[in-house]
Amino acid sequence: MKKFLTVCLAAGTLAASALGFSACGGGNTLVVYTEAGFAPFEYLSDGQIVGVDVDIMNQVGEKLGRDVVFENVNFDVIVDAVSEGRLTNVGAAGLSITEERREKVDFSIPYYTASLYVIYKTDGTMAPEIGESTAENGSVIYWDSLAGMSIGVQGGTTADLFLTDEIGEDWGALYGTNASKTPYTSLSVAVNDIGLNTNVVIIDELPAKTLVANNDGLSCLPLYYRGETAEEDEAAVDEYAIAVTPGQDELLAAINEVLRDLIDDVDEDGNNGIQRLVMQHLDLASGN
Ligand code: ARG
Repeated sequence: MKKFLTVCLAAGTLAASALGFSACGGGNTLVVYTEAGFAPFEYLSDGQIVGVDVDIMNQVGEKLGRDVVFENVNFDVIVDAVSEGRLTNVGAAGLSITEERREKVDFSIPYYTASLYVIYKTDGTMAPEIGESTAENGSVIYWDSLAGMSIGVQGGTTADLFLTDEIGEDWGALYGTNASKTPYTSLSVAVNDIGLNTNVVIIDELPAKTLVANNDGLSCLPLYYRGETAEEDEAAVDEYAIAVTPGQDELLAAINEVLRDLIDDVDEDGNNGIQRLVMQHLDLASGN
């Protein structure tokens, strides 16, 4: 701690140096790690990082009287950086709660429920078979339809973790099928590879739908675990929360208050504050 303080003071005397600004910020700036290729939660607009998570964290900054600075980093470094708490104390990145991550960081209350989607070529090039599930009341792609395929994911995401199990564990739907995983740092690069080096890309629903809306020739469908019967089919679902360095209790409480207020603020159409932010950013990110 002493060492950290010294570094901050030194940087402070270098007046507004980039280092002081991002790592220490005079002790008052809240540095938030994110990966800005995940609309509508975080994406770039005119070179600025914007999105649902940005709006949430700006409200937290207002509540605490602190400036908020967003850093666009590779997704797979966020949890460890927040856990360490040296360069950042917050990860806001459409981050799903998992037990492994919970061992490293504190999570806010959940603010959004998401499911995984599969993006494929609409014309069928290298595409998987489409299934019908009564559980979804429509078309889905089952894990086992990805047998033998080359599957793209964003490195470190839950899609990456689940896929690793389906391929590597002997109970997995893709075990022994020659299916392979390619981790990409950027989702836009991953989807450009569909139909070329990759059959499909698996990622959360809303980023998948935004990528499909912005790229001709791509479609997406929910990813499903096959049940004993069609009614027992299950989507791959998880919940988003904001990650905070353990011990940052005041910060965590402020984040929870902001989220609670947004969740409780239900309008006459039945949408809460988070859902309104999601709709607003979906329109912007899809260029409408
Ligand atoms: N919800 C998924 C996870 O937590 C994907 C999040 C990706 N976020 C991003 N900003 N790229 O693993």
